[in-house]
Parts: sequence; structure tokens; C-alpha cells
Amino acid sequence: MFHIRLKVALLFIVGFVIGFLIALFLSVIQPKNKLPTHHASLHDLYEPWFVKQNLRRYRKTFDTLRYSGQTFLTESTYLYNKIEIACLVLVRRIKYVKAAQMTWGTQCNHLEFINLKPTKNKLPSKKNITNSAWYLLCKNLSNLPDTFHWVLVLNENTFALLENLRYLVAPLNSSAQYYLGHSMVFWGIRYNSGQAGYLISNGTLSALKRKVKEDSCSSDSVFWNLEDYYLGRALSTLNITTSDTRDKRGLAVFHGFNLQKLFSPGSIELSNYFKHSTYPTLCCSTRSVTFQVQGTSSMYTYSYLLNQLQIFASGSYGNRMATTPVPEYEVWKTLLREHGRNYTNISPEEYYEFWVDLVSDPNSFSSKLKSGN
Ligand SMILES: *[C@@H]1O[C@H](CO)[C@@H](O)[C@H](O)[C@H]1NC(C)=O
Ligand SMILES: *[C@@H]1O[C@H](CO)[C@@H](O)[C@H](O)[C@H]1NC(C)=O
Ligand SMILES: *[C@@H]1O[C@H](CO)[C@@H](O)[C@H](O)[C@H]1NC(C)=O
Ligand SMILES: *[C@@H]1O[C@H](CO)[C@@H](O)[C@H](O)[C@H]1NC(C)=O
Ligand SMILES: *[C@@H]1O[C@H](CO)[C@@H](O)[C@H](O)[C@H]1NC(C)=O
Ligand SMILES: *[C@@H]1O[C@H](CO)[C@@H](O)[C@H](O)[C@H]1NC(C)=O
Repeated sequence: MFHIRLKVALLFIVGFVIGFLIALFLSVIQPKNKLPTHHASLHDLYEPWFVKQNLRRYRKTFDTLRYSGQTFLTESTYLYNKIEIACLVLVRRIKYVKAAQMTWGTQCNHLEFINLKPTKNKLPSKKNITNSAWYLLCKNLSNLPDTFHWVLVLNENTFALLENLRYLVAPLNSSAQYYLGHSMVFWGIRYNSGQAGYLISNGTLSALKRKVKEDSCSSDSVFWNLEDYYLGRALSTLNITTSDTRDKRGLAVFHGFNLQKLFSPGSIELSNYFKHSTYPTLCCSTRSVTFQVQGTSSMYTYSYLLNQLQIFASGSYGNRMATTPVPEYEVWKTLLREHGRNYTNISPEEYYEFWVDLVSDPNSFSSKLKSGN
């Protein structure tokens, strides 16, 4: 907590920068705060695994990727094809479904939504237990085909970076029993927080399916919305428990909160989240996997910043002069001609309309983003 407060104060002075950049910034300044510099971490396994696959990587600029006319196999595409991940999303607010499908969900090999029956309280309930979140999650998990290496379970307001997730799990044996996420302790049971999203391996899924066959998602489940805890409890009877998923500098990768909350010192919600954590939690690893968003438009914004924005820092393919110089006044005529427009009698209004069509004003940009064009 001390580290986090200190950084919040620092950041307030530095100023308010939104978005994930904050997390990157925090992790950059972290080493100054005398963190444990190195401890064994699951994240250390990726590079040796990569080398063992006989793979080489080459850095390419966006300029080359986009304008050179060549095609390249990116590391993320390679991993997408090699490591199949099913994403199960527990939905309480339906408006997030489309946003998830259009944004981070495209990186899942399979995406499924489980509609939960909304209730306001977390208190014991006499309602039909087959409507509880745990029952629905358990049923859906046990009906999932076993063709996936990993299953990621998230709440609907969580943004996931599947690319980073695949770095984490690529070197792990998915037939072994893994249960990865933000580990918490409650009533003596270690479980992964549903707020932060969690991941089970195919090996764990198989063990769970065997158990469910015997006791069919048995619900002495009295708490309506504690499906994350119930999963932890069910797995603990199988001797499957949570692991430390922090990176080698001890920074967390599963975040069960909105990153902007880091700007509210002493936020009650956050302090409970940290208090029950199994491992000291510091924000944020550069290989972060999940975080929450507030509102569907944030989901589109993050998706744009993290998956679509291209930065052209160098290269010349996209910035080449024409072989024969084009006089300035010819440029706009050529452009109009290329788009099949008559330039001899175009009015200023028509010319403006033409440009709106071509480059997207903010409104049409946002609607294009949301319809996936
Ligand atoms: C999965 O969850 C849905 C709720 O969205 C439920 O109606 C359905 O029965 C579940 N599927 C299975 C196979 O249990
Ligand atoms: C609970 O709901 C399920 C289907 O939603 C139904 O089959 C079952 O009979 C209900 N149980 C009780 C005790 O009402
Ligand atoms: C998952 O485990 C099952 C049961 O052990 C196995 O049949 C299946 O091939 C595994 N799936 C993958 C993708 O490894
Ligand atoms: C992966 O884990 C399974 C189950 O624990 C084990 O049988 C298998 O030998 C492991 N595979 C490798 C390559 O380590
Ligand atoms: C879990 O571990 C305990 C102690 O090591 C053992 O007695 C028990 O049989 C194990 N249970 C399962 C399901 O493997
Ligand atoms: C463009 O408009 C002018 C004047 O209206 C007309 O004379 C000319 O034929 C048009 N050119 C084309 C290619 O349509």
C-alpha cells in the first residue's frame, strides 16, 4: 500500500494522463522504490520456451508492416494459432456484450457469454439455486468442449489482453493443473478473484468435469454472486490451487479494478482487494493481462490505443516522394479524379463533404470503430 500511495502522490503532481499509459509509467518508475528486484516468476519461462521452439523474431517498423507490400507472421498470430483459448464472459450488464465482441474478444479462439440473473445483494438467497452465478458457470464449464488449451473467465466489464496472456501460458503444460489469476484468501480458501478474471488449464477443466459428474455442480451455494470463491473451493478439494502470477519484479498482471482508481488514494474498494490478496500486489506489469473498464466506450478506446494505433517513427515506404514531382495545385485535382469526382465545378461545400467521407469526422470514426470497419 505504501508504494501505491507514494506513487499516487507523485502522479498527481506530474498530472493526469488517462489510460493504460499510466500503468506503463508506474512500472517504469517502480524500480526506484526498492522493490524486490527479482524473484522466480512464471513470466521467466517464455523466452527459453521461444528459443526452444527454434523461433527467431525480427523487429519490423509499422512502415514496413503496412506499406512494404510484404506479409509477415507476427508473434501474436503465431501464438494465437498455437495456443487455443476459450473466453467465458459472465454477463450482468448486457450492453458490454457487443463491445467485448468487437474489441478484446476477437483475440479469443472461442468467445461465449453466460447471462447471469441480476440481483442486487450478495446476501443468502432462497431463490432457485440453478439461477446462481456459480451454478451457471459450473454448468457452462462442464459443457465446454475439451479442444481448448486454456479457459479464461471474466466479468463483462473486464478488458483482457490475450496477446500478453499467451506469453504467460505458452511455456506451460496445459494438460497439467493450473489455476491462474489474482489470488485471494477468504474463509481459509485460496481462490482467484473474479473481478480480475482468471484462467484454468485444460488439465484443471478435465478434473473439474470429473468432479461435476459426481456431484453435479452441487450448490450448498447460498451466496448468489460468489462464483469465483465457489470455483476456488471446488478446485481446492481436487488439490488444485492458485499460483503466483506476478512478474519477476513482483508486479501484478491481473487487475481487478479500473486503472484510474489508482488516482483515488485509499479507495475502500481497492484496500479490500489488496488486504485479501495472497501476494503483495503492486501495480502494474508491462505484461498486464486484465483490467476493468468503466463503460463500453472505454473498451473501444483501449482497443484503439492497444490494438489499432500505429506509430510511424521511422521508415520510408509510406513517405516516398512521387517519382515525377506533382505541382501543388494538381494534388487535389488528382485526388478528386482518383475518387471519380468532377473537379471542374466542385463547390467548397461539396469539397468539404468529400473530405468528411474520406477521413471520418469524430462521429463517423466512432461508429466505424463500433461496427468493426
Ligand atoms: C450457459 O449459461 C446460460 C446462461 O447464459 C444458460 O442458459 C445455459 O444453460 C448454460 N449452458 C449450459 C450448457 O449449461
Ligand atoms: C429451478 O429452475 C429450474 C430451471 O430453471 C427448474 O427446472 C427447477 O424445477 C427449479 N427448481 C425449483 C426448486 O423451483
Ligand atoms: C484436454 O484434455 C482432454 C482430457 O485429458 C484431452 O482429451 C484433450 O485432448 C485436451 N485438449 C487439448 C487441447 O489439449
Ligand atoms: C504435461 O502434463 C501431463 C499431466 O500432468 C503429463 O502427463 C505430461 O507428461 C506433461 N507433458 C510434458 C511435455 O511435460
Ligand atoms: C489431496 O492431497 C491430500 C494430501 O496430500 C490427499 O490426501 C488427497 O487424497 C488429495 N486429493 C485428491 C483429490 O487428489
Ligand atoms: C465536369 O463538369 C463540366 C461542367 O459542368 C463538364 O463540362 C464536364 O464535361 C464534366 N466532366 C466530366 C468528366 O464529367
